[in-house]
Amino acid sequence: MKYYIETYGCQMNVSDSELVSSILRTAGHTEVNSIDEADLLLFNTCSVREHAEQRVLGRIANERHRKKHKPELKIILLGCMAQRIGQSLLNENCGIDYVVGVDQYRALPAIINQEPSALIDFDFDEVYEELMPIHSGSRCGFVTIMRGCNNFCSYCIVPYVRGRERSRPYPEILKDIQLAIDNDLKDITLLGQNVNSYQWQDLSFPKLLLKLNDIKGLHRLRFVTSHPKDFSDDLILIMRDCDKVCEHIHLPMQSGDSGILDMMNRGYSYEHYLSRILKLRDAIPEVSITTDLIAGFPGETEAQFESTLSAMREIEFDYAFCFKYSPRSGTAAADSKDQIPEEIRLERLQRMIDLQREITLKKFRAQIGKTVEIYIEDFSKKSMAQLSGKTRDFKIAVVSGNESQIGKMVMAKVVDATAGTLICE
Ligand code: SAH
Ligand code: SF4
Ligand code: F3S
Repeated sequence: MKYYIETYGCQMNVSDSELVSSILRTAGHTEVNSIDEADLLLFNTCSVREHAEQRVLGRIANERHRKKHKPELKIILLGCMAQRIGQSLLNENCGIDYVVGVDQYRALPAIINQEPSALIDFDFDEVYEELMPIHSGSRCGFVTIMRGCNNFCSYCIVPYVRGRERSRPYPEILKDIQLAIDNDLKDITLLGQNVNSYQWQDLSFPKLLLKLNDIKGLHRLRFVTSHPKDFSDDLILIMRDCDKVCEHIHLPMQSGDSGILDMMNRGYSYEHYLSRILKLRDAIPEVSITTDLIAGFPGETEAQFESTLSAMREIEFDYAFCFKYSPRSGTAAADSKDQIPEEIRLERLQRMIDLQREITLKKFRAQIGKTVEIYIEDFSKKSMAQLSGKTRDFKIAVVSGNESQIGKMVMAKVVDATAGTLICE
């Protein structure tokens, strides 16, 4: 059969869609790039915020009409929503035929020959060994090194939909990286909800980086996500010493107020977070730092919110992903009686975004005059005479050039910058 996958959410889902693709292809099915041709329509979904779920439900409502003209079309729900609300969606007859959870992808080829059903049991031994992920056309590779999360931050649904933390064996990681290199992917990101707690036999995360740094043919190595509570001095020094490891860290702060961090069950104070940043900048002065921030967590006072704004001014992140708190049923924070009214959450989010835009512009403009390495990924969105790619420190850069440079590393001088793009020559 012909299948089409739509992927939502984080890079973990991108990586999982590549696994699913490999499983379906091995079972004799063919991927198509047009939804019109598909017999199997797969949605790999995200539950992290209400909005993410609403989008997918809207997409499914839009596509189910296809079944009128093509009764054999099957709609399959994968990923975190499958895990969280898949069974009830199946019962509601909203067009979904099968629901397959995050640890059950190997059963996909079998389930599509059965009556409509859901398979969402967790399997904490499943780390998807011995598969050959099919890379999804991007020039950057994602390699999952661990699955699940044990942290239970009080706002977060991920531990409930992804199950307990488990690390993938080193030989599997090596095999997946080699496959990415063979596919000429020059920028590879190691994935896990909390990569710092990677542990396989006596291999810790810093030691893993040290070993991977020696792989021939590897150009750039990154990793997400790091948790500030586990972000060790050891790791900082190894980042500094490994030449393939890029000068960028994504270190979600969530809030700049220690009281709110405590309520979030994050396991660190603002002072600890700041100490990590200072240590990092001391070891790698040119490091770029990005973060995630939440506005309007239950009980957040105006003064506590302002602590986050002053932390943003103090640290000056290169970029921040800012989110409005979204209550997720089943998490501890969703039960709090101190929910912040929607209009205040929105207003705080906007102030956060406005401040970060100023800081990002300043950070990007500080690059003017420097020479940077750009990994050319594609034509720029605006013009075919311009190419676009990323610098080692994870900034989008555009430079003039031609098609033959796509997939190559080029050196270029930054001549101008906006709050999001380096303009290079
Ligand atoms: N494991 C990663 C990614 C978690 S999800 C980590 O720990 O950082 C990505 C981001 O979504 C989080 O960092 C957080 O900022 C945001 N997020 C998670 N749950 C949320 C919620 N209920 N409301 C708003 N933002 C949320
Ligand atoms: Fe969610 Fe916290 Fe786990 Fe990240 S570390 S996935 S925010 S529970
Ligand atoms: Fe979303 Fe699941 Fe990732 S909830 S953020 S797709 S782990």
